[in-house]
Amino acid sequence: MYEAYFSNRFTNALVYYIVLLLLLLISPLLFVLELIISIRSSLQHDENMSGKVVLITGASSGLGELMAYEYAKRGANLAITAIEEPESRLEQVANTARELGSPNVAFLFADVSKVDECRMFVEKTVKNFGRLDHLVCNAGIAPLYSINIDVTKFEPVMDINFWGSVYSTHFAIPHLMKTNGKIIVNASSAGVLNLPRGGVYNASKAALISFYESLRHEVSPAITITIVTLGYIRTNLITAKYSTNNVGIQLRRDIGDVHPTMTPDACAKAIVAGACKGESSITQPRYIKALCLAKSLFPEVHHIWFNSYFASLFEKLQTDG
Ligand SMILES: NC(=O)c1ccc[n+]([C@@H]2O[C@H](COP(=O)([O-])OP(=O)(O)OC[C@H]3O[C@@H](n4cnc5c(N)ncnc54)[C@H](OP(=O)(O)O)[C@@H]3O)[C@@H](O)[C@H]2O)c1
Ligand SMILES: *[C@@H]1O[C@H](CO)[C@@H](O)[C@H](O)[C@H]1NC(C)=O
Ligand SMILES: *[C@@H]1O[C@H](CO)[C@@H](O)[C@H](O)[C@H]1NC(C)=O
Repeated sequence: MYEAYFSNRFTNALVYYIVLLLLLLISPLLFVLELIISIRSSLQHDENMSGKVVLITGASSGLGELMAYEYAKRGANLAITAIEEPESRLEQVANTARELGSPNVAFLFADVSKVDECRMFVEKTVKNFGRLDHLVCNAGIAPLYSINIDVTKFEPVMDINFWGSVYSTHFAIPHLMKTNGKIIVNASSAGVLNLPRGGVYNASKAALISFYESLRHEVSPAITITIVTLGYIRTNLITAKYSTNNVGIQLRRDIGDVHPTMTPDACAKAIVAGACKGESSITQPRYIKALCLAKSLFPEVHHIWFNSYFASLFEKLQTDG
């Protein structure tokens, strides 16, 4: 019965603006509702992690390492993974986690972009500890590419960031079902905000958000999924191997001084606390959430300022060398 409105150019647009206006009018009410729901979930009891089993991918550095320490302080058993490399710090991370209070830490070398290796580390974890409570899909790389380079160089981004999380999740689900476990997914605000030149990285993160939002319907309430969308956190991510392999583009090295950032420790603490409370999404630093909202309400304005803002973060690089 509405087809007539949507076939006419004028009324079609009119309906859009009316709905938008109504949305803005009731937004104070929606805002209060959101606030009540988020306060309620933050008052929820922390899960007692003592003796539980947490599997973290990509825990040799950065947020994966720091999350391992946060879980260790809560007394969880840990299985941590990273790619096997001569100078891998994974064993050191395992030792530190033990010192911080984890009763039992297993470390496994595996490449999340290979499906057999994902099956292997999930099975080994369950064989070793007898159960699995949290799966933290953290391993990721974040190179920035222009569309003008050899596009086959894009490949590993999807394999590691997207398929790496999906494979691990596939093998973990039967075990998480038994423990009413949780999946923590490392997406990124980039999956929503679409920074320039981050096309492939951003697409892999958008794919993660989309995949796990759907999966949520399939596995809830047995399994809780927490999607983490981070802003810029000061880890070695942007200087990591893939972003410097000659085809990528670098962000300014001093990005931390010109762009609001958060320390990785504070970030890891916030993620683990949120996950243990069973929150469905975590955005850190919090202001990023407002930017995501602004983007969906005002896409044209967002496009203009975001593009020029990030262009300034690349440009300086040339003069920096
Ligand atoms: N830092 C930020 O600002 C930011 C913002 C948004 C989202 N994130 C997300 O946070 C996650 C972690 O980033 P980070 O900042 O902690 O970076 P990081 O310090 O570079 O850590 C990445 C981890 O992933 C591991 N890894 C890379 N490729 C792998 C593979 N194929 N198989 C298994 N492990 C692999 C790395 O270990 P090895 O190199 O030893 O294998 C390392 O432990 C990523 O998913 C990222 O997208 C970060
Ligand atoms: C958490 O669980 C452990 C073992 O299951 C138990 O000994 C401990 O008392 C619990 N802690 C709290 C605060 O409930
Ligand atoms: C998620 O992945 C990014 C790299 O894409 C990494 O910088 C970050 O530390 C990872 N961990 C978390 C919890 O976001």
